[in-house]
Parts: sequence; C-alpha cells; structure tokens
Amino acid sequence: MSASSPAPITVALLGGGTVGSQVARLLVDNAADLAARVGAPLQLIGVAVRDASRARDGVPAHLVTDDAASLTARGADIVVEVMGGIEPARSLILSAMAAGSSVVTANKALLAADGGTLYRAAADNGVDLYFEASVAGAIPLLRPLRESLAGDRVEKVLGIVNGTTNFILTKMESEGADYSVALAEAQALGYAEADPTADVGGHDAAAKAAILAELAFHTRVTADDVSCEGITGVTAADVEAARDMGFVIKLLAVAERTLDDSGVIVRVHPAMVPNDHPLASVRNAFNAVFVEAESAGAMMFYGRGAGGAPTASAVLGDLVAVARNRISGGRGPGESTYAGLHVRSIDEARTRYYVNLDVADRPGVLAAIAQAFADNGVSIQVVRQDGHGDDAGLIVRTHLATEGSLRRTVDNLRMLDAVKNVVGVMRVEGEAGP
Ligand code: NAP
Ligand code: HSE
Repeated sequence: MSASSPAPITVALLGGGTVGSQVARLLVDNAADLAARVGAPLQLIGVAVRDASRARDGVPAHLVTDDAASLTARGADIVVEVMGGIEPARSLILSAMAAGSSVVTANKALLAADGGTLYRAAADNGVDLYFEASVAGAIPLLRPLRESLAGDRVEKVLGIVNGTTNFILTKMESEGADYSVALAEAQALGYAEADPTADVGGHDAAAKAAILAELAFHTRVTADDVSCEGITGVTAADVEAARDMGFVIKLLAVAERTLDDSGVIVRVHPAMVPNDHPLASVRNAFNAVFVEAESAGAMMFYGRGAGGAPTASAVLGDLVAVARNRISGGRGPGESTYAGLHVRSIDEARTRYYVNLDVADRPGVLAAIAQAFADNGVSIQVVRQDGHGDDAGLIVRTHLATEGSLRRTVDNLRMLDAVKNVVGVMRVEGEAGP
C-alpha cells in the first residue's frame, strides 16, 4: 500500500436486520465521504445473520454469512454488533475484543445487564467500546454525557427513550387507536424489539435508563437497579382522564440524585405530563431527553428514537470515531464509576400523583379520604368529583410526595368503606412548584 492510499479500516457486521441492513447500506452508499472523514476507507468484510439464504436490501449478498464466530475471529479493526440479545452477542463481543477488534454496539439489553464485563474486556485488550445507538436512536446523547458534560455535575435525566411505546401512546391519545393495532404498526415500522414485551413492559426503557444513569452519575447501574413499570396497564380511560385534565400520558425514564445527595434513583413508568410541557409534544417514535446539570442548566435532546436508518446514523457516527482512534492510536473514554453512589429504592422518589377513586357520595366521605392522605403526609393539590350517588368518581391530584407515602395512602384508601375502588394511580411529572 502506498503512502497516498492508506490501509482500509476493516468492519465486520454482526446482524443484518432492521439496523444492520441500514448500516451496510450506508457503508456502501457513503463510502467516499466516510473515507474522507476517517482518513482511510471503511471496508465491510462480512455480515453475519441467522438465515444467510435470505436476500437483504442494502446488504451485499457475497458478504453474508451464518457463521458469526468465524467472522468475529477474522480480527477486523471494528466489529459492529447489531444482532441484539445477551447470547451469543456477549461471547462474540468478548472474542472480538480478545482478537484486538474495537466494538460498536446498539445492544442496550446487554450493556445494561453486563456492561461492566464489556468495559473490562475493552480496557484489558486496549480497544474501544462505543454504544451511542443503544439509547435514543439517532439522537447524540451518550457522547454529550460521556464527553461534553464530563466537566459538569449532572443532577437529573428525564425523558422519553422508547419509540415503540411513545408511538402506541400517541396513537391511543390522538386517534383512539386500539393498543394491539398500534403495537403491530410499530413492529411493522421497525421500531419494536424482536420481543416487543421488552418495549411495552418498560424493560427496553429501563435498560436505557441504566445506561444513562451510569454515564450521568459515574456509578455502576444495571437494569436490575431500575424500578420498571410499562404501559400494559394504561387504559383508554386513563388516556381520556388525562386529556380531560390537560395532560398526556408518556412512558418516562427518570434518573436523579436523592435529596441527601448520597444516592441515585432510577425509574421507568407511565406518567401524566401537562400539555404545555415540551415532552407532551414528543409524538410517535420520537424521543426526547432532558438533562439538568449544575453549571450548564437544563438541556433537551430530541430526535428519532427508533428505526433502521436513524439508528444506523448513530452506529456510523461511532464507526467514524472508532476508526479515527484506530488511525491515531488513541482510545475513547472507558467506564467511569468512581462516584459509587448507592442506587436507592423508588420508595424515596418524590413526585406528584393522580389518584382516581370510585366512591360513595354521602356526607363525610371527602373528609375521610382527605384524612387518609393527611395521615401519610401527602398534601392534596386538586380534588375533582364527577357524578353522584352510586356513580361518584373522585380524582385527587397531590403535591410532591414520596412513593412510599403515596403507597401507604392508597393502602389506607382501599380499607375505607367509602372507597368502592381505586380505579387508577399515576405519577405526574413536569409540573413546576411544590
Ligand atoms: P433485528 O431486525 O431482529 O435484526 C437482528 C439481526 O441479527 C438479524 O439479521 C438476525 O439474523 C441477526 N441475528 C440474531 N441472532 C443471531 C445469531 N445468533 N447469529 C447470527 N445472526 C443473528 O433487530 P434490530 O431491530 O436490527 O436490532 C438490533 C440491535 O439494535 C438490538 O440490540 C436492538 O436493541 C438495537 N436497536 C434497535 C433499534 C431499532 O429501532 N430497531 C434502535 C436502537 C437499537 P436474521 O435476519 O437471519 O434473523
Ligand atoms: N425498541 C426500541 C424503541 C428501539 O422502540 O425505542 C430503539 O432503541
């Protein structure tokens, strides 16, 4: 190879599905621009899939193989893992690193389950581990946290990080769509995970919340540390009640410091967000994440959170960064968990609540209900009664309260004769004030 034509940076692609096929397409379509930006051509040497007999748009047929282990063992400069799941993805990544390959992955499930092992292997083998595409699709978010905000102190991360559930909730809210029809559409558009229960059960968002929290707070956080509730319990009646009160329901990921600053709480759950909050207008498969930092103040990152091409954009960004590191002989940042904060229970989280009660409409009922809130130190912000007689419904919105005190309040309400049913309880996020 002459001095004027640098050696190519070789790339092995594990996975040729929704994301992988778009990565392969971009590597081919944008080859000249990528070579100019990197300073050397990016040469795709193989694409591993399960079924090598199937034709795939954007993937050169002669590069497709069903032997992922052999492709990994070829010692490419960079291995891109977009097959998903824990195994064989983890073993393949570890053997790639042992063979001297840097790794780019979009696999949030693996990073949140066992990221520490991957980071250690990267350090031991002197290679890079980049994973921008693992959270919030196309949105540049992890690099800002890992690098741009490395000199600041992050206080809170709050956002919508799952495109599938945001798509479903948007369809339910704006078109009255049926939950399962909206989910099928999200799957057809390539937003959902191979097993969509990871999306609707909140586990995909929980994995992303763990990754965000680890980077934001320099503390090891795994998916098991995240309190997780999905959208399967959200009903059309909840959506309508929220709309009547000027709110929309969003699946939120929240990572924040505890009041005494000694720990962090990481949670994923549906929440009511006021219509005038910027997160309320994040629709369909878009994601948005607020980051509050001590010196920088509040920032919002917004864009396409799922889908083949948007996610491939983030993968390609990592590929260029890692390729540049290979050429310069440098490495990107490794794991940073020096702060070692305690990950605390959601019981300590403070938020506002909406409580929907089916009650008997007779004298003294409101006083008994208010007493149950007062007994547990939960301050009421708004009470609204609908209907009367046997059909009376009572909606209570609270000021800030801890999760534990609200849970005890609801337990007490369930024991009152006057309360026939606790119809719904939902957290309210994004309101200013106490
Ligand atoms: P996908 O469409 O299901 O594609 C997975 C690919 O991996 C397929 O080509 C599959 O082969 C191949 N594969 C799976 N297991 C394999 C094995 N054991 N050996 C060889 N090949 C195997 O998934 P995807 O949506 O592209 O997602 C890939 C990764 O990106 C996941 O970690 C996901 O969480 C992450 N991600 C996805 C999105 C998105 O919007 N889709 C966004 C961000 C991150 P076959 O085609 O032969 O089945
Ligand atoms: N299934 C994920 C989502 C893909 O819907 O957000 C993007 O990570």
